[in-house]
Amino acid sequence: MVLGKVIVSASTKGGTGKTTSMVNLAWCLSRKKKVVLIDLDLNKSATLCVSGIIEANGKDVTNILNGNKYSSSLYSDGNFSFIPSNDRIFLYDSEKSAINLKKSIDSLKSVYDYVLVDLHCNITGLSITALKSADLAIIPVSSSDPLALAGAMRQEKLIKEVAEGVKYKFLLCRHQARKTVSKQVVEYFSKEKKSTVIKTPARESVFAQKSSGLGLPCCLKYPKSTVAQDYKKISKEIERSV
Ligand SMILES: Nc1ncnc2c1ncn2[C@@H]1O[C@H](COP(=O)(O)OP(=O)(O)OP(=O)(O)O)[C@@H](O)[C@H]1O
Ligand SMILES: [Mg+2]
Repeated sequence: MVLGKVIVSASTKGGTGKTTSMVNLAWCLSRKKKVVLIDLDLNKSATLCVSGIIEANGKDVTNILNGNKYSSSLYSDGNFSFIPSNDRIFLYDSEKSAINLKKSIDSLKSVYDYVLVDLHCNITGLSITALKSADLAIIPVSSSDPLALAGAMRQEKLIKEVAEGVKYKFLLCRHQARKTVSKQVVEYFSKEKKSTVIKTPARESVFAQKSSGLGLPCCLKYPKSTVAQDYKKISKEIERSV
């Protein structure tokens, strides 16, 4: 049996584009494959970003952290399934919850082609468990941020430390090609980190923010926007690399 691939967002730097990337990639991948997106961030950002497709109403990830079957937390709309977060998730940072999370991810892999997990920027036992389960960790780098490179290197070091051997790729987000800092970031990655950077950057676009506010992936609400086109290409690159 071919097992699904686990893709996890990884960055302890806030606001780099983790949630936007995971929501849009989950949507793009679900056009052809079965996808489940798990929100493991107590801020429930991914939950809010898909609330226009699926209204979470009571069931959430704490069910699986308590050891129940993943189906007790799942919402589905066609090939796109979703497990919402809970703002009390910090109460579940125990070894038992981590074991339950691992078991659920393993079960989901036998049903879904892709299991995507959106993480909070803090490192917790749950996020380490998700990272260790990953076939691919995506490190979003906000390319127009002057501190982006330092942040990206810190993330790389951290992944090697807490999830040794897990494959990772940098994803340039909020990219503004005309900005000097974005040019420097692209140059650095194409020279120094060519094998670990996703070729297509996700460009800065007002539609990325607008769609989140509407509770919809940008790729669904504004499919013709530059950033939606970018995420479509990125999802294809990701399919090839896991
Ligand atoms: N390509 C883009 N163009 C414009 N705005 C974007 C883009 N990608 C993300 N954003 C905006 O940047 C902000 C941070 O993005 P996002 O929530 O995806 O980051 P995050 O890494 O998940 O943040 P956190 O660390 O809080 O979880 C949001 O307001 C989002 O709408
Ligand atoms: Mg987020």
